[in-house]
Amino acid sequence: MAMKNFSHFGVSLLLALLTFVLLPAALFGQLQREALAQTPPMGWNSWNKFACNVSEDLIKSIANSMATNGMKEAGYQYVVIDDCWQVSRDENGFIVADPQRFPSGIKALADYVHSKGLKFGIYSDAGTKTCAGRPGSQGHEYQDALQYARWGVDYLKYDWCNTGTRNAEEAYSTMSDALLATGRPIVFSMCEWGTAKPWVWSKGIGNLWRTTGDINDKWQSKAKWPDGSCCAYGMVDILDMQVGLEAFAGPGHWNDPDMMEVGNGGMTTAEYRAHFSFWALLAAPLIAGNDVRSMTPEIKEILTNPEVIAVNQDKLGRQGRQVSKKDDLEAWAKALSDGSRAVILFNRGSSESEVAVSWGEIGYPNHLSAKVRDLWAHKDVGSFTGGYSAKVGPHSVVVVKVLP
Ligand code: GLA
Repeated sequence: MAMKNFSHFGVSLLLALLTFVLLPAALFGQLQREALAQTPPMGWNSWNKFACNVSEDLIKSIANSMATNGMKEAGYQYVVIDDCWQVSRDENGFIVADPQRFPSGIKALADYVHSKGLKFGIYSDAGTKTCAGRPGSQGHEYQDALQYARWGVDYLKYDWCNTGTRNAEEAYSTMSDALLATGRPIVFSMCEWGTAKPWVWSKGIGNLWRTTGDINDKWQSKAKWPDGSCCAYGMVDILDMQVGLEAFAGPGHWNDPDMMEVGNGGMTTAEYRAHFSFWALLAAPLIAGNDVRSMTPEIKEILTNPEVIAVNQDKLGRQGRQVSKKDDLEAWAKALSDGSRAVILFNRGSSESEVAVSWGEIGYPNHLSAKVRDLWAHKDVGSFTGGYSAKVGPHSVVVVKVLP
C-alpha cells in the first residue's frame, strides 16, 4: 500500500515537473529564439564573393564601407565571416582562428565591427569538419557557443557538411540551446540546404533556415558538385523551389533561399533587380554577397532601395507567394501590415510582354479601386479598378504596392 502511494506520488511529481518546470523551460527557449530576428536579418556575408579568402583586413574594410556607403542606413546590420576563418583547436578544445589572417583575434574584430554600429557574425558546421575542411562544432557545441559569446558574436551561420548520419533536428537543436545558454542574443542561421525539410520543424530552433542547395551567380542553371551530387542553382531555379513554403515563415523564423549574388557580375542589372525584388517579397534574409567596397551606382541603388526593403522588413512578416503563372509571365504578392499588397509582375521570357494581376488574385474584391505605386520608379502611377498591368522587359520585374 505504501509502495502504491509512493508510486502515485512519484508519477504526480513527475507530471508536475513536466507541466510546471520542463515544458515551460522548453517553451521559454523557443520564445527566446523566436524573439530574435523579428524581421528578416539584413547584412553581408563573405562567401559568395571571397570564399576562403577572408581576413581581418577584409572584414574591417567591408564594415567601414557598409557604415558609410548607405547600407547601414538602409538597414544592413550583420557582417558575417563565412567558412575558413578557423584552423584548429587548442589543447583545451577551444576553436582557434587563423593567426596569419586574423592576427588581432576574433574578439578585436568583433569589437571593431561593433564600433562601426554594426553587428558581427561567424560560421561553423554541425559536423566534424566545415565544408572547406576546417574544424566543425560536433561535440564542441557548448564550448564553441561560449567562445562566440565571449568574443561578442551576434549571428551564427551553421552548416551541414561532414555530418554523417547525424539527425538534423538534434544537431540544430543542440547548437540553438547552446547559444541560448550563453545568455547572449545570437541569431541562428541554419544552413542545412533543405534536405530534411527544416521549414517543418525549425520554428523555435533557428531564426532562418536554408531551403535549397547553394546559389550561384547565374540567372538559371543547375551545376552538379564535383562529387556528382546535385546542385548549385541559378537564381530562378531557387525562386521556383520557394513555391509552397510561405506558410512556414514569420517573425523570428524565416525561409532562407540563400545569400544574394546582386553585384557579383554574372547577371544583368535587370536580372539583379529581379533577384533583389524576389528576395524582398519572399521575406528572405537580405544578406549581400558582393564586394560592397566597390559597387556601381546601379548595384548600390538596387541593394539600398528603401521602398523594396520596406516590403521585406514589413512587420507583419508574411512571405509573398506566386498568385498566377502563364508560360513565362507570373504575378507574385505579399500582404503588408497596412493592408496593402506588394506585387511583382515577372517576365521570365526573352522579349518584352504585358503582365497583369487582378485584385481577386491578391485577395481584394475586383470592384475595388486601389492606388498603385511603382517601387523602382518611385512614382504613384494612379488608381485602378479590378487589376493592374504593365509592360515588363525580358528577365525583368515591375514591383508595385497596391493600396485599396
Ligand atoms: C556550403 C554552404 C555555403 C558556404 C560554404 C562554405 O556550401 O551552403 O553557403 O557556407 O559551404 O564552405
